[in-house]
Amino acid sequence: MGLFSNVLTVIFVAVSTVTANVPTLKLHDGHDIPALALGTWLGNNTKPGANEVEHAVSWAIDAGYRHIDTAFAYRIEDQVGRAVAAKIAQGVKREDLFITTKLWNSEHARSAVVPALRQSLASLGLEYVDLYLVHWPVGQFLNGTYDYTDYADTWRGMIEAKSLGLARSIGVSNFNQQQIDRLLELGLEKPTVLQVEINLNLQQPELLAYCARQNIRVMGYTPFGSLFYNKAQKTAPPPRVDDPALVEIANKYQKTVPQIALRYLVELGVIPIPKSLTKSRIEQNVQVFDFSLTQAERDVLKSFDRNYRTIPQYKWLDHPYYPFEKKNQ
Ligand SMILES: NC(=O)c1ccc[n+]([C@@H]2O[C@H](COP(=O)([O-])OP(=O)(O)OC[C@H]3O[C@@H](n4cnc5c(N)ncnc54)[C@H](OP(=O)(O)O)[C@@H]3O)[C@@H](O)[C@H]2O)c1
Ligand SMILES: *[C@@H]1O[C@H](CO)[C@@H](O)[C@H](O)[C@H]1NC(C)=O
Ligand SMILES: *[C@@H]1O[C@H](CO)[C@@H](O)[C@H](O)[C@H]1NC(C)=O
Repeated sequence: MGLFSNVLTVIFVAVSTVTANVPTLKLHDGHDIPALALGTWLGNNTKPGANEVEHAVSWAIDAGYRHIDTAFAYRIEDQVGRAVAAKIAQGVKREDLFITTKLWNSEHARSAVVPALRQSLASLGLEYVDLYLVHWPVGQFLNGTYDYTDYADTWRGMIEAKSLGLARSIGVSNFNQQQIDRLLELGLEKPTVLQVEINLNLQQPELLAYCARQNIRVMGYTPFGSLFYNKAQKTAPPPRVDDPALVEIANKYQKTVPQIALRYLVELGVIPIPKSLTKSRIEQNVQVFDFSLTQAERDVLKSFDRNYRTIPQYKWLDHPYYPFEKKNQ
């Protein structure tokens, strides 16, 4: 009886826990990419602890996430790897997971790319990643000296990593349109993905249109922008999470304002990368595929676009490959 009721309890919990079903999108190389990813960056002033990201990734996979976004620079690839290994041991299939990681700025030499990816794979405990991104077009050695390696040479190293089967797909992050165009003009393989900051204050319609024309998928980082008071700079434009127009839309769908912000990005065709270490928020952020916004609601969300960047990385402004507009310094 005890055993039987325990089994019933397990079944009940399994059925009553709402696991999201995240759709996938096609990459131009034929692979499928899940339309939302868990972010794993702890912020630039946070020293990683022993296992907070490991817990987050584990909760995320339980909640239905199949795509994890990480990077060598986040110093937590080992935690991602342990969580993924544990879930695979529990029956999740490697081929159903999509792991993205990134090449750091210190490894831009063409010959450094494959060894850097092998190091990430060792930390992740994986044979391959689904997506490997050049984190920034800007090269910089660990001693702080700039590395002026042409990002096109770095890209040639990425192509080699892919041909070795160490990355199923390759892409870039924080490249501007001219930099991607230059890779194409050189006749090099087209990136499958561009990962850039996209949120209500930085919607980048021209860049999204360019990527749509090129069939390059866009992953949107810092998807909440300045929504939360504890993260927003004093000078950041609205909205905040208690904005009445957003609260009204959220109430209509019995969703939260963060979910509305994520849903809007999904409807723009962007793959949002919400980061959270909080179980309830991790679960909440993936529940954005069971409703859709009206055109009038999208117009409200569109009105918050201010071309306001939360991660301008002005410290690299004098590097020749600094990718962003140089105003507002
Ligand atoms: N390619 C790049 O150069 C680059 C740059 C930046 C970021 N990224 C990627 O994009 C990911 C996301 O960006 P991000 O980490 O800058 O910022 P974000 O995901 O926009 O915001 C994260 C913050 O929002 C909080 N939060 C999350 N969900 C919430 C909810 N439902 N309600 C209230 N608060 C919530 C989190 O708190 P708690 O964690 O305390 O719950 C955390 O403080 C990164 O983790 C990383 O994977 C890439
Ligand atoms: C910084 O590191 C690079 C690469 O290892 C090296 O070539 C350069 O001389 C170093 N610069 C300084 C100032 O130590
Ligand atoms: C990173 O840290 C610097 C200095 O502490 C701060 O000014 C900047 O806003 C931080 N950037 C992000 C994206 O958090």
